[in-house]
Amino acid sequence: MKILLIGATGLLGNAVAKELEGKHEIIRAARHNADVEVDITKPDSIKRMFEQVGKVDAVISATGHAHFGALEEITPELNEESIESKLKGQVNLVLLGMDHVNDDGSFTLTTGVIMDEPILHGASSAMANGAVKSFAKSAAIEMPRGIRINSVSGTVFQESPEGLRAYFPGFDPIPVSKAALAFRKSVEGAQTGQSYEIY
Ligand SMILES: NC(=O)c1ccc[n+]([C@@H]2O[C@H](COP(=O)([O-])OP(=O)(O)OC[C@H]3O[C@@H](n4cnc5c(N)ncnc54)[C@H](OP(=O)(O)O)[C@@H]3O)[C@@H](O)[C@H]2O)c1
Repeated sequence: MKILLIGATGLLGNAVAKELEGKHEIIRAARHNADVEVDITKPDSIKRMFEQVGKVDAVISATGHAHFGALEEITPELNEESIESKLKGQVNLVLLGMDHVNDDGSFTLTTGVIMDEPILHGASSAMANGAVKSFAKSAAIEMPRGIRINSVSGTVFQESPEGLRAYFPGFDPIPVSKAALAFRKSVEGAQTGQSYEIY
C-alpha cells in the first residue's frame, strides 16, 4: 500500500513507520525534515500536500498538538491551540483528503488516554481527543467508496520525556511500539469506526 504518514518524524510517527515499512511504501510528512512538508493547522498546506503526493491507500495522522495547563489558566487563545491542531488539523486531513484516498482505503487518527482518564492540566487535550474519537466513529458510517476510518488512543509512552510522563502519575506507560500495532490493525484490517484504546 502507499501510505501517507503525517507526524512521521515524531516519537509515535517513527514507531508507526517502523511497524509498516518494508511491507508498504511510506511517504513521511511533517512541518520539517520530511518527504513532504505540511502544517495541519493550515488547510491550504494540507491541500498542497495531497496534490503533491497524489492518490494513496492510507492516511495516518500521528500528530496533533494540544495545550496542557491548569483549567483556571486556560484562555480561549490557549485552548484554540488544541482545537486548531489536534482537533481541526486531523479532521481537515479527512475532509480535504477523502478524494485523494483510493477505494477501500483508510484514515487513522490519533487521540489519547486523557479523553477517558482525566489528569490534572489535561482538560484542553481531553476535549480535542474526545472530539476526534467521536468524529471518526460518526464519519465511519458516511465514508464513500469503502474508505474506513479509525482512531488510536494510547496511554503515555515509556519513551516520552520525563516532563510529559510526570503528568501521568500512577499510569502504566506502554512501549510506543505497542501503540504502533494499532495503526497496523487499522490500515491492514477491515474495521471501521473503532477507537483502539491501548491502556
Ligand atoms: N507521547 C505520548 O506519550 C503520547 C501518548 C498518547 C498519545 N500521544 C499523541 O500522539 C501524537 C504524537 O505524539 P508524539 O509524542 O509522537 O509527538 P512528537 O514526538 O512531538 O511528534 C510530533 C510529530 O508531529 C509533527 N507535527 C507537529 N505539529 C505539526 C503540524 N502542525 N503539522 C504537521 N506536523 C506536525 C512533528 O514534526 P514537525 O515539528 O517537524 O512538524 C512530529 O513529526 C500527539 O497527538 C500526542 O498527543 C502521545
